[in-house]
Amino acid sequence: MVTKVGKGVEALRVVVTGAAGQIGYSLLYSVAKGDVFGANQPIELLLLDIQPMLSVLEGVVMELQDCALPLLREVVATADPMVGFKDVDVAILVGAMPRKEGMERKDLLAANVRIFMTQGQAIDKVAKENGQGQISVVVVGNPANTNALVTRKYDPSIPPQNFTCLTRLDQNRAQAQISSRLGVSHDKVRNCIIWGNHSSTQFPDVRHAIVNIDGKDIPVPEAVKDDSWLKNEFIKTVQQRGGAVIKARKLSSAMSAAKAICDHMRDWWFGTKGNDWVSMGVPSDGNPYGIPDGLVYSFPVRVKPDHSYEIVSGLPIDDFSREKMDATAKELQEERDMAFAACEA
Ligand code: NAI
Repeated sequence: MVTKVGKGVEALRVVVTGAAGQIGYSLLYSVAKGDVFGANQPIELLLLDIQPMLSVLEGVVMELQDCALPLLREVVATADPMVGFKDVDVAILVGAMPRKEGMERKDLLAANVRIFMTQGQAIDKVAKENGQGQISVVVVGNPANTNALVTRKYDPSIPPQNFTCLTRLDQNRAQAQISSRLGVSHDKVRNCIIWGNHSSTQFPDVRHAIVNIDGKDIPVPEAVKDDSWLKNEFIKTVQQRGGAVIKARKLSSAMSAAKAICDHMRDWWFGTKGNDWVSMGVPSDGNPYGIPDGLVYSFPVRVKPDHSYEIVSGLPIDDFSREKMDATAKELQEERDMAFAACEA
């Protein structure tokens, strides 16, 4: 399908993997409509899935076509990574091997290593080196942090900081819990942090978060006035929210995951506001919080309009936080070691 629009403006080539899946279905419309890269940015979408899903993907392509979106110039559906990653500026890696009944964690990691190794190699060979500094990658498919690390390992020509993973859904969940507790709209709560892994060991931290009540910025702990709730129920609710959605829906989060991907990519593309920060899984190398190097770990980051970002430094870390930040780092080290052992097998 080829539709020529936005003549004169170069289209951004965006690949979405796992595009025939449920997150893909919620995500593609927003990306193609201009919600992520702006209302004047034409888009070429590349949809990558596995061969048996190509007929489903065909239906998705038809629907995208039927949306008659003015910014959508071209849609390519393929099962070949060398086609899917050809000259792309942005890669949203959603497709992954799901955990099947009776599957051991190390088998799940090994299956995903194969997928993300292949995709890292394809990106290395065929993705675009654009004027703004090469492809930007966000990994969503679980285990997202470790999959991002594997993709980066097989893609040596691209700077490590171009590989991120999604923890924005966890951040949004934390923000929603606080705003509902305080009875304020979601946009009044800012600077919630997710530290570490996108798993149940993640540390949702609102000690540095701010809520705006009646025009005044107040630290969230001061507004909540319930340290025990913040240290226990709040953290558990955010950590286990994915499981709670599965229990209720019999399917994992898709609409909220797609929205979080859009938030992540938009902030990475256009920059964060003022002094605010957002959480992203990013390379831990040289971080200011004593987390071991060589991981993809979720930190608070500030992003500049040129897409470069830095980890927010100088936040005081108390003993309670230290323990939680180290526990999630330890899980990531174990995942990395298992995944890299599978790479060499
Ligand atoms: P889904 O099962 O509906 O779709 C996954 C799609 O990926 C399927 O169409 C499948 O054929 C495809 N796929 C599998 N292997 C592939 C490969 N090698 N290349 C291209 N496509 C491939 O799953 P859903 O709900 O869309 O979730 C996708 C992933 O996102 C899962 O791993 C899930 O755990 C993860 N997830 C991560 C979140 C985060 O915050 N990081 C939040 C929610 C989900």
